[in-house]
Amino acid sequence: MTLEKFDTGAAHPARRYNYWLGGKDNFAADRESGDLLAKSYPAARIAARANRAFLQRAVGHLAREVGIRQFLDIGTGLPTADNTHEVAQRIAPQSRIVYVDNDPMVMAHARALLTSAPEGETRYLEEDLRDPERILSSLEILDLTQPVGLILVAVIHFLPSQEQATGIVRTLLDALPAGSHLVMTCATTDFLTPELKANWDESLRTGRSDVHPRGRAEFAQFFTGLELIDPGIVALSEWRPDPAADENPAPVDASLFGAVARKPVG
Ligand SMILES: C[S@@+](CC[C@H](N)C(=O)[O-])C[C@H]1O[C@@H](n2cnc3c(N)ncnc32)[C@H](O)[C@@H]1O
Repeated sequence: MTLEKFDTGAAHPARRYNYWLGGKDNFAADRESGDLLAKSYPAARIAARANRAFLQRAVGHLAREVGIRQFLDIGTGLPTADNTHEVAQRIAPQSRIVYVDNDPMVMAHARALLTSAPEGETRYLEEDLRDPERILSSLEILDLTQPVGLILVAVIHFLPSQEQATGIVRTLLDALPAGSHLVMTCATTDFLTPELKANWDESLRTGRSDVHPRGRAEFAQFFTGLELIDPGIVALSEWRPDPAADENPAPVDASLFGAVARKPVG
């Protein structure tokens, strides 16, 4: 990895998300972009925390209730508390996790910080979601005859094309056996007031935002052929909420869809 790959002068989704989560691994450009987006969507920080909490609940569910022991987490983000392998390995230390992200800074931090329990294994791939075949060809530590938890949390909305995005998800799922699960969140403006929605649209139009929201029907397309797990497609704070959690924001403040679904036999 070369130093020039770290472009600190341009905002990056992982570092902006890190800023919203209260982390320190971000630069002026990320903070500026984060503040600008938070002007059009003031609940951005709440949404980031709610998204992270959903990821942890969903991974916990797959590890504890379903017995999934291997995870492919694409769009990992900068390491923070309770990352995928920590949640999974706390329940089943032998869990194996492959993290994938296209931001070299994320991967540098991940390699340094995301160390596996000795019974399990973690790997890091600096790859792009837009090249799913390449990702699939590098999954040595995963046994693709056994169910995999495919995690696409807060990453699919960086792909503007719905056709491209659904094709990528299909390619990934086709390579995984029955009993595998898809965990996904995606930004939506469905829960927003008309004013907030107009702000978001304007941010996209003017290039201030790179987050392309999906409506419910578009989000549902990612789950075609899968069996949705209760409660189905919901605002992510409403997906099996933890009654002991410090905050459980309303959909307008955590404007992402969340769902988990199982790949059936046949
Ligand atoms: C908002 S963060 C989400 C992090 C984590 N999944 C979570 O929910 O806490 C989005 C992550 O996706 C990564 N990302 C964006 N586009 C990507 C792509 N085309 N391929 C791989 N990673 C991508 C960013 O670098 C960033 O780390």
